[in-house]
Amino acid sequence: MSPHDAALELTLGHGHAVIVAVVEPEVGPGALVVPGRAPVALDAALAALCEDERAHAAALPPVRRRDWVAGRWALHAALARAGAPVAGPVLADDRGAPVLPAPLRGSVSHKRGVAVALAARDEAVAGGDARGARVGVDVEVLAPSRLDLSRRVLTDAEREAVAGLDARARGVAVALRFSLKEAVYKAIDPFVRRYVGFREVAVWPGDGGDGVARVEIAPGGGADLPRDIEAGWVEVGELVIATARARR
Ligand SMILES: CC(C)(COP(=O)(O)OP(=O)(O)OC[C@H]1O[C@@H](n2cnc3c(N)ncnc32)[C@H](O)[C@@H]1OP(=O)(O)O)[C@@H](O)C(=O)NCCC(=O)NCCS
Repeated sequence: MSPHDAALELTLGHGHAVIVAVVEPEVGPGALVVPGRAPVALDAALAALCEDERAHAAALPPVRRRDWVAGRWALHAALARAGAPVAGPVLADDRGAPVLPAPLRGSVSHKRGVAVALAARDEAVAGGDARGARVGVDVEVLAPSRLDLSRRVLTDAEREAVAGLDARARGVAVALRFSLKEAVYKAIDPFVRRYVGFREVAVWPGDGGDGVARVEIAPGGGADLPRDIEAGWVEVGELVIATARARR
């Protein structure tokens, strides 16, 4: 199968995104799909990876293997789309983030067999500026979760902002903010290298239909957090893809 049959490719504000679904019968049903694209069989996706990546995948339990392979498949495709294919393996650093040669930046997220990867060249790094940017991506189903996550995920001000919505709209608003914050976390973790609580950062998705969210450090947010953080999102069928970029 050609990557065009399987992958949905999007050019977003923070880089090139590739979304793909990988199926593995051993894992069973319940997997998500990419609208308008055929899923890739796990074996085919594995065959497209490097030897070290296949070896890494072989050691993972089935669900994790499916999702990790989908993520690496998407990441290699996103890097190629960014004009910077990486021939070698892309493994993880000590924090769990994919390691890419500078000036490349990339991030991965997966959900029930669907993976999204974001890849970009960091012009600051390419230009020798050590304050280079980092990117993050997240994929979620844009629907209320079974448990109300608002207390854990939202700051007091964010909770106030969604309080007037009906239950479904509030659940969707929480899911969107959750996704934006996960993308933000992946973009800022390289700078702070610590767990960042969801209530340290507030995100304000605009109503303008442009998919841009304002990001601010919440009261009580760590002084170590980068001040220059952007986030945005796009809806793809039932999924939301959130992206972020952070600079020191
Ligand atoms: C790390 C974390 C973001 C992963 O999110 P998740 O919903 O469990 O899983 P996702 O599928 O979206 O993302 C997993 C991918 O994130 C990447 N990742 C893991 N740790 C990472 C880190 N420290 N920094 C950047 N990327 C990381 C990896 O690529 C991983 O996939 P892979 O192992 O297959 O390569 C989440 O578990 C977490 O710890 N969040 C911290 C709290 C938070 O988000 N706070 C928000 C404050 S702004």
